[in-house]
Amino acid sequence: MVQKIFQTNAELKDWLSEQNSAIIFIPTMGGLHPGHQYLIEKAKANNTQKKQIILVSIFVNPLQFGKDEDFKKYPRNISKDAELAFKAGADAIWAPDYFEVFPGGENSHFKIQVPQILHNQLCGAERAGHFDGVATVIIRLIKIIKPEKLILGEKDWQQLIIIRKLFQELYIPIKIESYSTQRDQSGFAYSSRNSYLSSSEKINAQSLPNALKEAKTEFDKDKVINLTKIASRLKENNLKIEYLKIVDPFSLKETSNINGLCLLAAAVKCGSTRLIDHTFLMQRKPIIAIDGPAGAGKSTVTKAFAKKLGFIYLDTGAMYRAVTWLIINNSIDPSDQSEIKNMLKNSKLEFKNSSFVEQKIFIDHIDVTEKIRSPEVTSMVSEIAKQQFVRELLTRKQQVIGNEGGLVAEGRDIGTAVFPDADVKIFLTASPTERAKRRALDLNKRGYEFSSIEDLEKEIKERDKKDSERKIAPLKKALDAIELVTDGMNIEDVLKEMIYIFRSKIPEEVWPTPNR
Ligand code: CDP
Repeated sequence: MVQKIFQTNAELKDWLSEQNSAIIFIPTMGGLHPGHQYLIEKAKANNTQKKQIILVSIFVNPLQFGKDEDFKKYPRNISKDAELAFKAGADAIWAPDYFEVFPGGENSHFKIQVPQILHNQLCGAERAGHFDGVATVIIRLIKIIKPEKLILGEKDWQQLIIIRKLFQELYIPIKIESYSTQRDQSGFAYSSRNSYLSSSEKINAQSLPNALKEAKTEFDKDKVINLTKIASRLKENNLKIEYLKIVDPFSLKETSNINGLCLLAAAVKCGSTRLIDHTFLMQRKPIIAIDGPAGAGKSTVTKAFAKKLGFIYLDTGAMYRAVTWLIINNSIDPSDQSEIKNMLKNSKLEFKNSSFVEQKIFIDHIDVTEKIRSPEVTSMVSEIAKQQFVRELLTRKQQVIGNEGGLVAEGRDIGTAVFPDADVKIFLTASPTERAKRRALDLNKRGYEFSSIEDLEKEIKERDKKDSERKIAPLKKALDAIELVTDGMNIEDVLKEMIYIFRSKIPEEVWPTPNR
């Protein structure tokens, strides 16, 4: 493709209409560096449609600078920026002037006001109106370009969180992909503003990434963070701290709870240059909870998802099924709780992995992997799964398996009862009709007979009812779970969507795979 640079909207739009391609859009303020180039490279590598354009915009947005900030001296060098962008794989550059973005001036257009609760954290606390300016210009740019995807860096984490929320609240159906902060060999995060630093300032500024990195190493070892120590280190190097905090990465509120994913973030002044940097803290590998009703296709996609991540796959339904099989096999009355308790106390339930995904389930050393899928087990399992002792026993076992993280677990109560602090919660569902069709295919494949799809649908609805209405750990969507309705989606589509959700909860900086 010919590499193009456009200044006016008219030229850009003409050209875009000829291309008839999906637009992958990377907005920048110019001053391009390897961090931007990484975004472009990743955007290209992870979007491999035949007809797509990687479009980079260069626009120094006056609305996001305070009145004493560096709007005037912000680096502007379109030809150098274009060279770097094209080298990284951009197809076109759009470098509009102010009136192209804001025809008639900014006061002729809607302005976005970011909720204070997000704006006034971290950088926004000192930079009044900054994120309002960012959000307003993003809306203008996407209105002109109509991209399929927006690519943003994790370096400006607060900006990323705000734009995600903006798109979600305004129902803007543009996917946002984010990629990790890039650093030079000394660990210094690339930023357009680094060009302001003198060589002696650069030496002092280096203490910022160094202190954060050391703090992270200490955290990984001892699970503690000493903010006072970091602050002294920064001050010793003549850096003026604007903020140095541990925050929840999504609400951006300060937190003392360092059990889940958190963000250690700092902004400092080095001379007159403002620098920001951060590091994520996480005590264990991610846990992903996939809940949902019968036949939603959980097993197939959860397995594939776990494989992509290289995580342990935990099918909790198989555990309830195995216990049910044992009860049937020993001819125990399913309502006789004390008998069931006695039997389970002495029985051994274990997964054996030929690989993480192709696992087999054994109860009392019998391989029941296939046996537990029989219609007989299926029709009785919900009755057994509602019993307190059974739930407590299996929940404990599941929690032990997930203790270290690095796990994708599927079931009914994973996000609510088993791993309420899971990092990613997905509630996977589909209409009962769709689920009955999928169940029929599955039974056919396994060689089981069934009377009709209508009966399967009835059976599925009954089981949903039992699972949702039981007293202990009923099937329900966790408040913080993302619902994915999979009607009309094939496995690949569902998997893609799950990876997208995963990536919106776990930054690339924390867990680099899988790609989109
Ligand atoms: O294969 P299907 O989606 O129909 O169900 P499953 O995941 O194998 O689970 C079978 C049954 O086990 C469910 O209907 C629930 O009654 C029970 N179960 C549960 O109570 N809690 C879980 N975490 C997983 C399954």
